[in-house]
Amino acid sequence: MHGTILTLLKRYVQTQYDHSTWVKLVELAGLDKVEFNHKTVYPDEHIYALVGHAAEMTGLSAGELHEKFGEYLVPDLMYMYQRLLKPEWKTLDMLEHTELTMHKQVRQEHTENSPPVLAVSRLGPNELMIDYVSPRRMSGLAVGIVRGLAAYYDEADRIDVMPTTTEDGERVRIHVRRH
Ligand code: HEM
Repeated sequence: MHGTILTLLKRYVQTQYDHSTWVKLVELAGLDKVEFNHKTVYPDEHIYALVGHAAEMTGLSAGELHEKFGEYLVPDLMYMYQRLLKPEWKTLDMLEHTELTMHKQVRQEHTENSPPVLAVSRLGPNELMIDYVSPRRMSGLAVGIVRGLAAYYDEADRIDVMPTTTEDGERVRIHVRRH
């Protein structure tokens, strides 16, 4: 997993909870010797262990935590890849273009990067379907990112996000509609 995601997870825990919670979390996950930075690609097991223990500590499910963290990630991801964004895009356009712009760029940056495949079908001007495919089973993060994008584009009260298959699978369909 891309170091950017792990450093943002660290900042998320430090700001939403506090620094000592992060210290406790890395100890529980057996990762207290690991330095997290944005340049390294870390084994996926690191993020599974951190999210798993964070879920135990907070009483939230891993899926709920993925959603909250996904929402939190958006402003930083948008800032980092702003050169790839088109000013006329809103939430649905952004979703439609993620696979062939942002995630494509991420794949090119490092051979070990493997963002999920997001096959997006635009069903109409105000509707689309995301087919999420990833062995990491982190579609809750995708749901959170969609919510974060809606907030980013000031459309939070108009965008409905509806997973149509259970969120812990390798293949998940997410229906997104603007009203
Ligand atoms: C500015 C836009 C975006 C950027 C720069 C971005 C970048 C990234 C990066 C760097 C990773 C880590 C990949 C790896 O370590 O192999 C990632 C993972 C992920 N991205 Fe994106 N992403 C963006 C938008 C989105 C959107 C719109 C969605 C879904 C609606 C999404 C869903 C995910 C998920 C669920 C993961 C976790 C890994 C997995 O499930 O396999 N991303 N993304």
